[in-house]
Amino acid sequence: MTAINQQAPIGMFDSGVGGVSVLREAVRQLPGEDFLFFGDTKNAPYGTKSREEVLALARRAVEELLSRGAKAIVIACNTATSAAAADLRARYADLPIIGMEPALKPAHQLHRDGIVLSLATPGTIAGEKYAVLYALWGDGVVNLPCPGLMEYAERGELTGPGLQAYLKNLLAPYLGSKVEAVVLGCTHYVFLKDAIASFFPGVPLIDGNEGTVRQLIRRLKEKDLLSARREKGQVTFLSSGGEDAVNMMKRLFSL
Ligand code: DGL
Repeated sequence: MTAINQQAPIGMFDSGVGGVSVLREAVRQLPGEDFLFFGDTKNAPYGTKSREEVLALARRAVEELLSRGAKAIVIACNTATSAAAADLRARYADLPIIGMEPALKPAHQLHRDGIVLSLATPGTIAGEKYAVLYALWGDGVVNLPCPGLMEYAERGELTGPGLQAYLKNLLAPYLGSKVEAVVLGCTHYVFLKDAIASFFPGVPLIDGNEGTVRQLIRRLKEKDLLSARREKGQVTFLSSGGEDAVNMMKRLFSL
């Protein structure tokens, strides 16, 4: 691989701001890399769309990032990974494509005789990929599809009565149970972590961000695509939703 390829940016996308939580972790672990983050705000949410619709949107997002020279793609969205990762990998066989899935496996390590709550979008939970994951690591897992929850993160509403009421309605049936772990199976929910944690004091909330970035590093190393640069890289935000959406991404990135 040439130095030009190593210096190319890492492309990431999500339906909106959720993937910014993955981006933050990636910048922390890979400070010398350049990143291009695309939030498909105009077409959000993905989690209540059909698989075919999400697949078409994910293909477009990847084309956008590749047209700007991305050397690898991180699908910073569980829903888009479920709908599109296999298709994208077949289409771009030489390109490192890193996807995400709800962290049922690490949560399983914490499971004894209680329950694990898995919060994700309806699309993720209904997908084939999740069925496979659930068959392996789903013992004691209660699936909670959360239509409408990502919108709080999109609006930057990370606390407040509306969010509290949504969560209370969702979580009330489990407040008396022995909850051993909560899986944040959508990248948007990472921004809502404190609000969710307030219902389960002392219970671990698990997301896939760190593991995803570790996988990204492994894949870049394999292809000799890691940047050797010492100075800090650049982060560029792109959105199908215009300037307000970009500003929201920047705001959440700097939290
Ligand atoms: N951030 C996405 C995920 O991780 C989904 C949000 C949406 O519904 O668009 O699943």
